[in-house]
Amino acid sequence: MISKDVIQSVIELARIEDVISDFISLRKRGINYIGLCPFHNEKTPSFNVSPTKGIYKCFGCGKAGNVIGFVMEHEKFTYPEAIRYLAGKYHIDIIEEETTADQIADNNEKESLYNIHTFAQKFFSTYLFESQEGKSIGLTYFNEREFSLDVIKKFQLGHCSSAWNDFTAYALKNGYSVQALVKSGLTIEKDHEYYDRFRGRVIFPIHNLSGKVIGFGGRILKHDPSKPKYVNSPESEIYNKSRILYGIYQARNSIVSLNECLLVEGYTDVISLHQAGITNVVASSGTSLTADQVKLLRRFTKNIVILFDGDEAGLRASFRGIDIILEQGLNIKIVVFPAGEDPDSFARKQRPEELKDFIVRNARSFITVKAQLLVDEVKNDPIKKAGLIHEVLSSVAIIPDGIIRSNYLKDCSNLLSIEEEVLLFELNKLLRARHKGAYRPADISEPEPAPPSATQIPTRKIESMFVSDTQEKAIIRLLFLYGSHDIYFDQPDEYQKMRKVACNVAGFIVNDIISDEIKFDNPLYQSFFDEFALMWAKQEVPDIYHFTSHSDPAIRRASMEFTDLEYELSNNWKKNRIYVNGEEKRLKEAVTSSLLSLKAKKLSQMIKQRQATIKEMKDDSALIALLKDIKQLKERLVEINKQLGRIITPG
Ligand code: UTP
Ligand code: MN
Repeated sequence: MISKDVIQSVIELARIEDVISDFISLRKRGINYIGLCPFHNEKTPSFNVSPTKGIYKCFGCGKAGNVIGFVMEHEKFTYPEAIRYLAGKYHIDIIEEETTADQIADNNEKESLYNIHTFAQKFFSTYLFESQEGKSIGLTYFNEREFSLDVIKKFQLGHCSSAWNDFTAYALKNGYSVQALVKSGLTIEKDHEYYDRFRGRVIFPIHNLSGKVIGFGGRILKHDPSKPKYVNSPESEIYNKSRILYGIYQARNSIVSLNECLLVEGYTDVISLHQAGITNVVASSGTSLTADQVKLLRRFTKNIVILFDGDEAGLRASFRGIDIILEQGLNIKIVVFPAGEDPDSFARKQRPEELKDFIVRNARSFITVKAQLLVDEVKNDPIKKAGLIHEVLSSVAIIPDGIIRSNYLKDCSNLLSIEEEVLLFELNKLLRARHKGAYRPADISEPEPAPPSATQIPTRKIESMFVSDTQEKAIIRLLFLYGSHDIYFDQPDEYQKMRKVACNVAGFIVNDIISDEIKFDNPLYQSFFDEFALMWAKQEVPDIYHFTSHSDPAIRRASMEFTDLEYELSNNWKKNRIYVNGEEKRLKEAVTSSLLSLKAKKLSQMIKQRQATIKEMKDDSALIALLKDIKQLKERLVEINKQLGRIITPG
């Protein structure tokens, strides 16, 4: 944990124009700076930096944020990574908060694991290039696979000697402990004997995002059915298979600049594509993709192209894995390679240009590939066809973005020859079922309230489980859909002239709710609000993916509700942030009136609760205090209703 003081110093010391100038060139214009936006392609500058407000904003693509947000967006850093970067730039010492003895031990262990892996990687590379065996066997093998010296170096490939324990002996001699070696997985212990896990194999190091070696894959050199083709490092403190993708370090820059990532199965596919000049590629290393891997990719791009070996069974088997990607709001295309070819073998038969061309021409949307495959499967069997519709739509229903969803619906309608309305009806059924699931009280992690005792049972019927549900929901909905938009208020400047001041919707709502100490009855909405408040404290607004990929499944599911088309006042807002015909005014009205409605509801709730206790009052002075309290609440309610009336009546 980085201490709050460090974060504070970073925020105070980091000058946004200074930080951004490290990445793009800025020109001064008035009190602001302007430059070409690094987040989208443009020829005339629409990227603005305001040193006084400490923010940047692009009027072309809508990206905006503070200095930390910029570094995160530009460098694809996580929040702590961005803080570390800025602290480094401004020579602020990072104080890790309350490092316990356990944490120190933990850090030391990680550090030692990184060291061993770096040491081993160097040993294996040296062995490949300098030893007799490496040169005559390892290098020859790579040459036969047509790997160039460039990619061998780029991926730091190596060779482990075929002797039992050359590596282990060398590491011990260099001061590494046998315990650490065993822990890293490089050395295997059996009956008090130690030998090398990767002996006699060529080595593919696995790098983390910052380029450190965290594990290895070792390929056998000769075909031998009695042995696995690859052995891999076991998981360790620094290597978590489900969180890393092979090649991400080498691919990260080009993934960002091309805004697309190709996904393949194997180490050699990644390397062959690099060699063919296609560098935005990572591998899932033979297993199906995990949610964490998708989250990792999502930091770099929203567009994934999966390259499949030409095999339909494999394609069907991976449908579920693909749903994970859809769920995170990413766009997926599929390229199926000709039968018997994988990207590696195919890449070697084509010229690089032909390969690129093949990928572009054959990339089809996942939904249409899935629909097509199933159509071929069921042919004209009507019963099977119903199941097919359901299966295709279940993938469509996972997509968080309503607009994308409806586009896919059109495609499916064509492919399945079923009218769009029919599909929409079915899709809505599925969506409703999902939403219902999201709001089952059992999903709410708070304990269920105890059933009321006889004396507590209210005489009036309770309309809903949460009295102010509608009003609470309206607020959360606004946060979700328009949290990062601005609304404008008139404020007198130093010369008492009225000026428009921009105010961010999320900031406005968060401040208002917090300053009036309003709590949400519905714990799920409270959790949503807390997330917004927490991020707003860092001047950030979480986007929908923050919630659809949240660690709390109840939040994840419930967030789907707020991605629905029916809630969008206008698509233009979301897509282009273009305000037409007074829509901006409507947003401001929606925000202020929703806040007032929530307060009005809360106030009448409080008034009712107090009125219910009047009869029980035995003590006169307490009764007087209560009545006074009720009167004040009523006055506030009247005031709020007046304000509401002013907003709602036109003019
Ligand atoms: P492949 O069998 O497709 O291997 O497995 P490959 O990468 O194409 O290798 P070549 O071209 O035959 O040399 C795909 C991935 O599955 C994992 C590896 O990560 C491999 O790259 N795998 C495969 C294993 O971990 N162990 C195995 O025994 C086989
Ligand atoms: Mn292969």
